[in-house]
Amino acid sequence: MMYGVSQLGYLVASALFVFALHWMNTPATARKGVYAGVAGTAMAVIVTWAEPSVIHHFWIIGAIVAGFVVGIPLSKVPLTAVPQRTALSHAFGGAAAGLVGTAEFYLRLSEGAEALSSFRMVALIAEVLLGYLTLTGSLMAAGKLQEVKWVPQRPVTYPFQNLSNLLLFGAGIALAIAITLHPTAPWAPLAFAGVIVLSLLFGILLIIPIGGADMPTVIAILNSYAGLSAVAMGFVLDNKLLITAGALDGSSGLILAIIMCKAMNRSFTNVLFGAFGQVKQVKATGEEQVYKPETPEGAAQVLEQANLVVIIPGYGMAVAQAQHKVRELYDQLKKRGITVKFAIHPVAGRMPGHMNVLLAEADIPYTDLVEMDEINPDMPQVDVALVIGANDVVNPAARTDKTSPIFGMPIIDADKARSVFAIKRSKNPGFAGIDNQLYFSDRTWMLFGDAKNVIGELVKQLAGSGMH
Ligand code: TAP
Repeated sequence: MMYGVSQLGYLVASALFVFALHWMNTPATARKGVYAGVAGTAMAVIVTWAEPSVIHHFWIIGAIVAGFVVGIPLSKVPLTAVPQRTALSHAFGGAAAGLVGTAEFYLRLSEGAEALSSFRMVALIAEVLLGYLTLTGSLMAAGKLQEVKWVPQRPVTYPFQNLSNLLLFGAGIALAIAITLHPTAPWAPLAFAGVIVLSLLFGILLIIPIGGADMPTVIAILNSYAGLSAVAMGFVLDNKLLITAGALDGSSGLILAIIMCKAMNRSFTNVLFGAFGQVKQVKATGEEQVYKPETPEGAAQVLEQANLVVIIPGYGMAVAQAQHKVRELYDQLKKRGITVKFAIHPVAGRMPGHMNVLLAEADIPYTDLVEMDEINPDMPQVDVALVIGANDVVNPAARTDKTSPIFGMPIIDADKARSVFAIKRSKNPGFAGIDNQLYFSDRTWMLFGDAKNVIGELVKQLAGSGMH
């Protein structure tokens, strides 16, 4: 009877997880998705707690309290720190899988060979390898993103790096195979400890050659490793919910990483081994190209005359925390009957959904957020494209310059608009470290300055002119 109830509970929790992911698809249902995820997790904990095999309730209570103690402060981190916060969660997931796997191995060892069948050993080894690798890899990723002093931001590369990593991984796999074949051999406990050390080390070595700015993609990949280690843990513990939830986690992490790589026109191998994001030598082009600077006053006058304005936000809007000022600008323009849309590039900013989250924080209706593929055909009809701290995602070199590192990356066609105002602080390049011809185009005027200040000035101008 109890078994039936717990299996039903697991089924409901699994369904809640599936709905949680599905509802995350659009901002309209995302909140519901979060509640479904929380309900699913709570249900999973309660059902597991009710299992007759759980006799030490103190440990479960202790784990729940520890979860709250760590989880509540984590939920309060600022939005800009969400990627590293997510990495920390993966580190906890990896640590949990690794520790459970370690405990299972050493406990079952005393029960003899039958307790360690080949199937169980394969699952155990996969769980431990992926779990510990995720633990240190995620901690390194979080450290890079948080710019922790002793974690180098720049990609750390050295000769024969990939080869030595491969050899190390090979050594780990060789040990793993040996233990799987002879789990009760006298040397097996030591070899198992060796696998743990190697996977902890491999997690660190895997991440150090990757630049800080590539971390969001790496975090999505680590997410799928954490999910896979949970699947393996599900097989070890014979727990169907862990298998389902782990598979959902693993596959969604992988899909997210693929979407991000596609939107950046990069391959997995390029992200993992490419040491992208290093400062590149900018080619000397002979003659110096000139920007046309504009004042907020001039820009405000043009904006007032427009029928259709498309705002293209990027990483700079996040840095400046300009979203609330952008909302004021949006209100000023709407008040004049101007149609205002936001063009959202899938990898604008530094994490998936970065722009959506910022704009939602400023209460901009999500119905005015338009995805890249949908807005691009309309760009030639746009009177003013207002680029706010975006660079790579509006760089026409991606369409035209075969030698450009971003060639082939889909972009928002800001250059096709009738006029463009671009807000940035300096002449520095964006994430990819390359020049942007958009800024030198006949139709583009530069508004140099911090995005929050410049938009604030624009709002002031518009509010002032509205009073006349
Ligand atoms: P970027 O190409 O990084 O350009 C951002 C621009 O914002 C810079 O040119 C910078 O110029 C400007 N800026 C910075 N702070 C500013 C401030 N306070 N006020 C005004 N401007 C400011 O950004 P993007 O166009 O959003 O492109 C995103 C890039 O990140 C892409 O290359 C993408 O592949 C990469 N990436 C994205 C993700 C995800 S998932 N979103 C993950 C990893 C990598 P100044 O310094 O002159 O101000």
